[in-house]
Amino acid sequence: MQRLALAGTRAIVDMSYARHFLDFQGSGIPSAMQKLVVTRLSPNFREAATLLRDCPVPLPGDGDLLVRNRFAGVNASDINYSAGRYDPSVKTPFDAGFEGVGEVVALGLSASAAFTVGQAVAYVAPGSFAEYTVVPARVAIPVPALKPEYLTLLVSGTTAYISLKELGGLSEGKKVLVTAAAGGTGQFAVQLAKKAKCHVIGTCSSAEKSAFLKSVGCDRPINYNAEHVGAVLRQEYPQGVDVVYESVGGATFDLAVDALATRGRLIVIGFVSGYQTPTGLSPVKAATLPAKLLKKSASVQGFFLNHYLPEFRGAMDHLLKMYAGGELVCEVDTGILSTEGRFIGLESVFRAIDYMYMRKNTGKIVIELPPSVNRKDRNHCLCFPVQFNY
Ligand SMILES: NC(=O)c1ccc[n+]([C@@H]2O[C@H](COP(=O)([O-])OP(=O)(O)OC[C@H]3O[C@@H](n4cnc5c(N)ncnc54)[C@H](OP(=O)(O)O)[C@@H]3O)[C@@H](O)[C@H]2O)c1
Repeated sequence: MQRLALAGTRAIVDMSYARHFLDFQGSGIPSAMQKLVVTRLSPNFREAATLLRDCPVPLPGDGDLLVRNRFAGVNASDINYSAGRYDPSVKTPFDAGFEGVGEVVALGLSASAAFTVGQAVAYVAPGSFAEYTVVPARVAIPVPALKPEYLTLLVSGTTAYISLKELGGLSEGKKVLVTAAAGGTGQFAVQLAKKAKCHVIGTCSSAEKSAFLKSVGCDRPINYNAEHVGAVLRQEYPQGVDVVYESVGGATFDLAVDALATRGRLIVIGFVSGYQTPTGLSPVKAATLPAKLLKKSASVQGFFLNHYLPEFRGAMDHLLKMYAGGELVCEVDTGILSTEGRFIGLESVFRAIDYMYMRKNTGKIVIELPPSVNRKDRNHCLCFPVQFNY
């Protein structure tokens, strides 16, 4: 054991202890890794992000886990993040990717009270488009296995669960319209509204997505490339819809406002149709909105997951139980139908985002990071000192 004296504190660096915590089943942790870094602010992810191939593997602090990522989730907002829209004061470079599933390969001493090396965890934290990510133990969620289905529950599942629970006022027989219904978060809004015994209408862009929506219980899928959504809603739902889970924005938002029933409520989940534009916004008929809402005592309310973090853990627990009990389909799109095949490795994040913006995905887009991407030639095993103060 080696002891170091620091001003005002006495720190212990125990290398044998470190090896115990940090070496995962003898596989070793490389000294260098790949990660995606935003080097230029732009909603065009290909212009914004760079794949760095020789970055140091980060060190976990006392309360942290070092997670070897096995799956990373693609979100519509990855391009808002790369455009600096989450924090206008952000400076490049910064790490990309919001969420991952992987195994703990190293951890700090405090983190070891709740986690062990080799454990499978899911997390929402910045920097998941990387081979390894340091994740604060307090945000890591143990999961039964390294499966992409668990990833779908993180941002996408909890957004649907929390927003509908807190703002939806769902009850039996209510009519719920979900836009982008066959996507990452839409699939959960459909299923959770069905669980609440609502009548669910879902918009999507293809016959295949319609069939998927039927398979998860959607009562009335509307393929907007085959039918006019406004006309269907006017004809089949003349009293209007009670709740809208609205992700698309622009003309779709306007149409959904027009379809609201008396005392109906529209939850603004996003406006994906605007994200690729320089402003990130989709124009809506804002001038007429107050009058339309007043005439129907209707409401429009925004929802942003970051503002509901206290509800996140409970939502995950609930969704994990539903999935374990066979009550929830977690549809994963691994890119198998994309022109270049499955999304494997960090290089594939670029085309996965393109694929989403070409409206090709059904379910949640997930990138796979197989262990083989940890190339042997970079495997110089690291031992991180565990350091604690008296
Ligand atoms: N508020 C929050 O905290 C929160 C959290 C997570 C997600 N979101 C929002 O939820 C929405 C869906 O996000 P997601 O990550 O789950 O994506 P996703 O639904 O898996 O993919 C986006 C889908 O949007 C539909 N879409 C319609 N118009 C589009 C357009 N002009 N460009 C691209 N896609 C279009 C497409 O489905 P069709 O082809 O079927 O139209 C596409 O597959 C986004 O608005 C996102 O910002 C919000």
